[in-house]
Amino acid sequence: MIKAVRGTRDLLPPDTDLWNRVDATVRDVFARYNYHEIRTPIFEDTQLFSRSVGEETDIVSKEMFTWEDRARGQSEKAQSLTLRPENTAGVVRAYIEHGYDKKGTLQKLYYVGPQFRRERPQKGRYRQFFQIGAEIIGPPSAGSESPLRDAELLEMLASLLDEVGLRGWQLQLNSVGCAEDRARYNQALREALQPVVHQMCADCQRRAETNPLRVLDCKVPEDQPIIEKLPRILQYLDEPCREHFAAVRAMLDAVSIPYTINERMVRGLDYYTRTTFEFTHGGLGAQSAVLGGGRYDGLSESLGGPKAPGIGFAIGEDRLILGLQAEGEKPAENLQAYIAPLGTGMNMHALKLARELRRAGVSADLGDESFRLKKSFELAEKAGARFIVIVGENEVAAGQFAIKNLESGEQVQVPRAELAAYLKK
Ligand code: HAM
Repeated sequence: MIKAVRGTRDLLPPDTDLWNRVDATVRDVFARYNYHEIRTPIFEDTQLFSRSVGEETDIVSKEMFTWEDRARGQSEKAQSLTLRPENTAGVVRAYIEHGYDKKGTLQKLYYVGPQFRRERPQKGRYRQFFQIGAEIIGPPSAGSESPLRDAELLEMLASLLDEVGLRGWQLQLNSVGCAEDRARYNQALREALQPVVHQMCADCQRRAETNPLRVLDCKVPEDQPIIEKLPRILQYLDEPCREHFAAVRAMLDAVSIPYTINERMVRGLDYYTRTTFEFTHGGLGAQSAVLGGGRYDGLSESLGGPKAPGIGFAIGEDRLILGLQAEGEKPAENLQAYIAPLGTGMNMHALKLARELRRAGVSADLGDESFRLKKSFELAEKAGARFIVIVGENEVAAGQFAIKNLESGEQVQVPRAELAAYLKK
């Protein structure tokens, strides 16, 4: 038997009803904040990711689905392609490719779609997963560097999670400064690690060489006392970065968005500058980050584009759904009517009635005249319908239908013309 590939899964009803409700809510929120949708390809030139996410990151060095694409004709050349592990790089590529900087305005773009990383699968971690993300990007003259962008984005996220119905989230906030700050901080970390690193785990010993920032990400209990004593990034920010971060925090305070400063938060992508953040949720176990994001002021230039500071985030939709389910969220049963034709020749009349009702906005499912009444009732209950509508010869002739509320058991006769309104109320 052929099964779904390791780390991938089928999303099935009734869960998909919850997914669709989340999608509809976030699209509505994005519209209110004046974001518009962008759809970029699911695969891109491999270099796009190595140059943006970073050669040294786990994502690029271990987790990408990459293949050599053969040339099919003389006019094509073979090239290395990769299933997108994230969508920020694709959005910035599109921004540059379509000359968006010439518009001179901020671009506020959102996306919803699958991403691919060859990680070790576990609860909340898949090889194909879904992200809901957004980016604000534009020339500095359009205000793209302003701390107001950061604060407005975080305020939107808090509202979005509230509207989707996720309770008990926590915002973890940090600033990683600019490239020069990070170079100084890395140097300080290297120096602080040098006398102690031999006591640490093998991963940390390697990280101390290649990318000392990643040491902060270590989960090994024995290493924690050492990590606690390492220098902190916020002490290494230059004056403009310090002021930027202070302004973001002051605005979050002004709109009463609670947050915790977490100087150990290391995001797994290299393009970040200044503000970085994650929203975590207790119901998710080890994979507690529902979403992550931050500022990426030099990303466009590193891809050969114009100066275009930006900030964005991506929600792990799989994790958001797990969080909602952990809080007891159930997809709404929304079938309003089960239409049960009763007796030979009644299918046609049931179809006509179903058409009328559905066109009037009633959700309705349709049985079959070959079913006995008892079976129709059972099927109506299984379908989660609120009402069953019996379509027999007498009903059609009288223009009046027997309907039963399957929750209360109440049974009434309703004239055809009033049926849709009755079923919807
Ligand atoms: P990221 O932190 O790599 O950031 O991913 C964002 C979110 O995607 C995570 O917080 C998590 O919820 C979800 N996620 C990541 N990997 C998996 C997985 N294997 N299975 C399930 N969910 C996963 C980014 O991707 C950045 N592009 C975010 C961003 C946008 N930064 C600026 N703009």
